[in-house]
Formats: sequence, structure tokens, C-alpha cells
Amino acid sequence: FLHKIVLGIETSCDDTAAAVVDETGNVLGEAIHSQTEVHLKTGGIIPPVAQQLHRENIQRIVQEALSASSISPSDLSAIATTIKPGLALSLGVGLSFSLQLVGQLKKPFIPIHHMEAHALTIRLTNKVEFPFLVLLISGGHCLLALVQGVSDFLLLGKSLDIAPGDMLDKVARRLSLIKHPECSTMSGGKAIEHLAKQGNRFHFDITPPLQRAKNCDFSFTGLQHLINKIIIQKEKEEGIEQGQILSSAADIAATVQHTTACLIVKRTHRAILFCKQRDLLPQNNAVLVASGGVASNFYIRRALEILTNATQCTLMCPPPRLCTDNGIMIAWNGIERLRAGVGILHDIEDIRYEPK
Ligand code: KG4
Repeated sequence: FLHKIVLGIETSCDDTAAAVVDETGNVLGEAIHSQTEVHLKTGGIIPPVAQQLHRENIQRIVQEALSASSISPSDLSAIATTIKPGLALSLGVGLSFSLQLVGQLKKPFIPIHHMEAHALTIRLTNKVEFPFLVLLISGGHCLLALVQGVSDFLLLGKSLDIAPGDMLDKVARRLSLIKHPECSTMSGGKAIEHLAKQGNRFHFDITPPLQRAKNCDFSFTGLQHLINKIIIQKEKEEGIEQGQILSSAADIAATVQHTTACLIVKRTHRAILFCKQRDLLPQNNAVLVASGGVASNFYIRRALEILTNATQCTLMCPPPRLCTDNGIMIAWNGIERLRAGVGILHDIEDIRYEPK
């Protein structure tokens, strides 16, 4: 084989995913098992349940990705696996499976930082050179970073409390949107986006906290509490119990979506100005990459587009299937590291890992 080929394995949260990707960015094979349906029923991820489901699926998922690629495992250049951050119990399943495979196939191992993989995904689909700015907004993550090289990140800001997707999920749960006939199968964030289209964001007037802080950090619990107060008040006014759908649910969804977009755009604006003032980003055509489940929200994306247009930047988003957790980004991060020659472990003894 002329090209390097990497098998990527991801189990950091609630998706068991694997993919085989080559140096030119061709996805040779991929497979994914999502646990979303199980966790929706329990109202959140219970780590031992996630661990058990990863255990039940990992072998099959990796096998499916390898078979679809129709390469022989001996043709792999390396195996790349998410080692952090994430749920320890979930990460452990992917890691011990990978190390077993690494031992069997005698291949180099590339430990992957989940956020680095999210940030580099855009280079698989588009020609994006370093440096660029990345905004990762999902259910578990919220950060702004300057990507200067494959493993050279400058963290500019993060959430001081919860991630925006987590906040949207909590609001959706408080609104019982799972009982709403139009949104029963959607994630919290998606349900909010769907309902917001029918709502009026001017109906409630709220000012979220941390708007003026002189850094790029985020906070979403303040907004969550403001929205909770509105919900409690509306329940009283409409004379309904918690657990029933409010007639003003769509207005509340529009309000929380709009305010979330404002919060995200304001912090991102600061990051762009900070980098440009210090010549860390080109003055014209600097790239802002937005990724993560929340970045698939069209309202938030449009708000970011208005920001990038006003600051001579270009907004780029990986396709939706690569915005959420997947094995392709892990394999691609492995390729990037192989090409840069960083973080490749050739000796399994190099890997200090204590199985739980
Ligand atoms: O990237 P992702 O799958 O990874 C995790 O963090 O697990 O993101 C999932 C998060 C959830 O919190 C979900 O509510 C949110 O992204 N999300 C959305 C949308 N679709 C998913 N938030 C806002 N608008 C959406 N359309």
C-alpha cells in the first residue's frame, strides 16, 4: 500500500465507533453503534450502562469497519484510539480493546485526545491550513481554541460550568419535550431548534450573565436558571403541572436558542479580536471552524456566519455526521499525527494504563 492507513476507535461517551481512513482522507470503512435511545429513556447517561453497551458492541463495530474497508488488518499503519477526555468507564472499553488489538497485530498505537480529533476533522473534508480558530460546542464540551499545529493548541476559553448542549438538554427535559408529538425522538437541542421555529424570541426579555467578562470563557447555568424561572411562572399562569407541555413552550424554546446563540457569538467575537490583535490569525480570510452537536443548529450557525462576515473571517463546519462523535475523526487524527510524527507509541510497554 502506498498510503498510510489508520484504524480509529472511539468510545468516550455514548457512541461505539470505528473507522478505517487513509492518508488522502478516503474513508475506507466505518461503523457506529449509538446508545442514544437507551439513554433518552433514563433521562441521561448512566456510566455503567454505557460501559456495558460499549462492551457488547465494540468487537462487532471494529470488525464491521475493517470488513467494509476490505483491507487486511496487517495493512494498517497504526491504531488510534480516544484516551481522553470522556467517561472513564466508556474510555476504558475502547482502550483495553485497542491495546489487545495492538498486541495481536503488532502495530503502533496512537492515543487520541477527543477534542483534538474534533478540531482537526475539518482538514479531512476541506483544505484548511494552520492556524485556525475552533469552536467546539456539544453536550459535553464547550471550548474556543487556536489551532496552530497538529498537537499545538492555545486554549482561549471554555465553559466555567456546563456545556451548551447539556443546558439545552436540561431545558428540553424541564419542558417535557419528549412528550411533544413533534419532538419525541429528538435530542434536547434538536427539539429546541424544531420548536423555536414556531415561537417568538421577543416574548421574554432576558439578559444572560458573563456577557462583559474580559475573557473568552462561557457560562450556561445562569441562562438555565433564568429559563427555569420563566417555566415555573408560566406553569402557574397556565395552571398546569410540571410534566405537561406549556402552550408557551415554543416561545421559551426560541428565547433559549436565541440567547444561547448570542452568548456563543459574543465570546467567539472576543476570541477573533484577541487573535487578530496579536497576529495569531491572518487579518483577512481567517478560518473559524465550528463543530459539535450544537454547531449543527442552523440558528446558531447563521449567527456565527453574521459574525464571521463582519470580521472578514470564513466560517467552516464539518458535515453534520462528522460534527458528532465518530470513528472517522479519530482515524484521521491518527493520520495527522503519523504525518507530523508526533505521539506515536511503538512499544506497548510505553502505554501506562491500569485497567479498572
Ligand atoms: O456532538 P454531540 O453528539 O456529542 C456529545 O456531546 O455527546 O452533541 C450532542 C449534543 C446534545 O446536547 C444535543 O442536545 C445537542 O448536541 N444538539 C443540538 C442540536 N442537535 C444536537 N443542539 C442544538 N441544536 C441542534 N440542532
